[in-house]
Amino acid sequence: MLANESGVPLDDLQALQEGLRLDQADRMIENVAGVHALPLGIGLNFVVNGKDVLVPMVVEEPSVVAGASFMAKLAREGGGFRTQAPDPVMIGQMQVLDLSDLHNARDIILANSEDLLAEAGKIDPVLSSLGGGPRGLEVRIIEESPIGGFLVLHLLYDVRDAMGANAVNTACERLAPEVEQLTGGRVHLRILSNLADRRIARAACTIPLRVLAFEEFSAEEVRDGVIEAWAFAAADPYRAATHNKGIMNGVDAVVIATGNDWRAVEAGAHAYAARSGRYTSLSNWGKDSDGNLVGELEMPMAVGIVGGATKVHPTAKASLKLMGVGTAGELAEVILAVGLAQNLAALRALATEGIQRGHMGLHARQVATAAGAMGDEVEHLAAELVKQRAVRIDRAEEILKEWRKNG
Ligand code: MEV
Repeated sequence: MLANESGVPLDDLQALQEGLRLDQADRMIENVAGVHALPLGIGLNFVVNGKDVLVPMVVEEPSVVAGASFMAKLAREGGGFRTQAPDPVMIGQMQVLDLSDLHNARDIILANSEDLLAEAGKIDPVLSSLGGGPRGLEVRIIEESPIGGFLVLHLLYDVRDAMGANAVNTACERLAPEVEQLTGGRVHLRILSNLADRRIARAACTIPLRVLAFEEFSAEEVRDGVIEAWAFAAADPYRAATHNKGIMNGVDAVVIATGNDWRAVEAGAHAYAARSGRYTSLSNWGKDSDGNLVGELEMPMAVGIVGGATKVHPTAKASLKLMGVGTAGELAEVILAVGLAQNLAALRALATEGIQRGHMGLHARQVATAAGAMGDEVEHLAAELVKQRAVRIDRAEEILKEWRKNG
């Protein structure tokens, strides 16, 4: 079905089911003793910038894939997700120590920034030929630290379709001797920053008021309940941590499916959420002038479609093919859409029936569908299963059989 829907040849999708072989794993890390598998589900109904996308999601938690898929269906009614990703510029940091005059050293670096950038431009000719490479230098003075003051040099580096860690780290290591020569200082650490705040991706969606009502909850109740739930996270770090965890349920699932570094994305997300000095929500929810629910998510998204596990792990390769993303930016955009959908799934459930019933409800719909329910039967059967506290396929099949026998 996925091959038919996506137009991707079936052979290219086999790896979704076959996974990573032991000999492949053995070439990825050290001391390999086995392969650890997780379920890969498909996030459905996603429309991202007007394009349908099937989204592979790797996650161990039930209801995550169903929640995202259901919210994507509601968002589809409002035109889907509108997303953006900027040029993939990463920050490489150099810590310059042993300087007697920090301000003077900063001035020297800034005065020589053109030469330094030209030098940095020679480091990776392949990246340069693809339109990537150095984009700028920034100098920051850290006045106070446990070892006293020092200078931090930021190399802004466009990494194109890579996550960028290797490219940035190499560039910093290669540029360091030049910086030492100019400043007379000692370049200590040379490493990328995971607070990739030059690589902020965005997603927004409008959920038409009319599609928000369900069961005994009016559309206005659901909309206002979501906004109230968001306000809790906006104001309180204890809640914001859980709220953002819900966003990361979706984000990480796609980051992992595509072979990307989820610790880097997690680190960037939480550092960005705390950028004002107080940890807060990564998303915003409100209403537009027509009373529709509108959501936005913005966060750093350092992911790639070349290099690392994205090209070595067969399931990651198949996942990227299935999504049909052509650039790292497009992948970042889909990930943001999934994060926003996941956030809405959690807030909608929490603001109405509570998360436990929501989990059961979502699960029950899947069970009802799996039992062969069609059209309106799905909702009715799911509700009946929840009522009977028997969300099981055998019971679903029995009820369906009875209904159909009795017309
Ligand atoms: C559970 O994995 C995620 C939630 O806790 C997120 C939230 O509370 O917003 C439901």
